[in-house]
Amino acid sequence: MAWHRISGYGLRRTRRDLPDLACNATRGGINQRFLNSIFRYNQRFLVKRGVVMQEILVLYYSRNGATRALAQVIAHGIESVPGAAARVRTVPGVVTETTVAAPAVPDEGAPYVSHDDLHECVGLALGSPTRFGNMAAAMKYFWDGTSGEWMKGTLAGKPAAVFTSTASLHGGQETTLLSMMLPLLHHGMVLVGIPYTEAALTATRTGGTPYGASHFAGQEAQPVISEDERQLAFVLGKRLASVALKLCA
Ligand SMILES: Cc1cc2nc3c(=O)[nH]c(=O)nc-3n(C[C@H](O)[C@H](O)[C@H](O)COP(=O)(O)O)c2cc1C
Repeated sequence: MAWHRISGYGLRRTRRDLPDLACNATRGGINQRFLNSIFRYNQRFLVKRGVVMQEILVLYYSRNGATRALAQVIAHGIESVPGAAARVRTVPGVVTETTVAAPAVPDEGAPYVSHDDLHECVGLALGSPTRFGNMAAAMKYFWDGTSGEWMKGTLAGKPAAVFTSTASLHGGQETTLLSMMLPLLHHGMVLVGIPYTEAALTATRTGGTPYGASHFAGQEAQPVISEDERQLAFVLGKRLASVALKLCA
């Protein structure tokens, strides 16, 4: 059982360590429902005080680092909300050589996502570089393997947000963001975007859209996030975490 020390509050545990307090516990029976309501009351109390953290999955694919840079800003936005923690994960690349399996653990960067991450997290930020106006095959491949979670409704009612990176400014950021929403809608997720009350949305000369966070990497594949992009990605993470905590309160 993993305990983490944080300043001010002594010890905290992640939601993974407290399955009985899970906000989306779905066990039947009146007694169990009564117990669940007590657990949920305790959960709200502990989350508000930062003792128990609700985790939001930040799932991305990135070959050259631009989408990963955006994922990090979104994770910071998530963690700016008391009671919320980011669980950052990636997917292995797909290649035409199908006889060679990817190693179980990547050499660097975030660990590979597992289906348990979908169960255990209370929200999702999903990111992919734009590939011909769409998400990368590696990310699509992962979602094509989630029919078990789809049938069980694992993600139904949980909030989600999307992000992307492109080489050209008008090369399909919005089509990628919108098409990434499609599997999430099929899973029953509640989509969170960026409102125009964020001044950077109007001011930006690089990335950042109402549909989700984005980065204009240019032909040199620059992973350096502009100030407006950073602000909007941070706000998206913060908004996603706030909505997730409210939905499971
Ligand atoms: C096969 C392929 C297709 C791509 N399609 C597009 C595209 O449609 N529009 C665009 O602007 N950039 C496109 N790109 C560029 C990437 O989206 C861009 O370099 C992105 O920033 C890479 O993100 P990463 O650093 O996270 O890998 C494409 C790149 C590849 C390899």
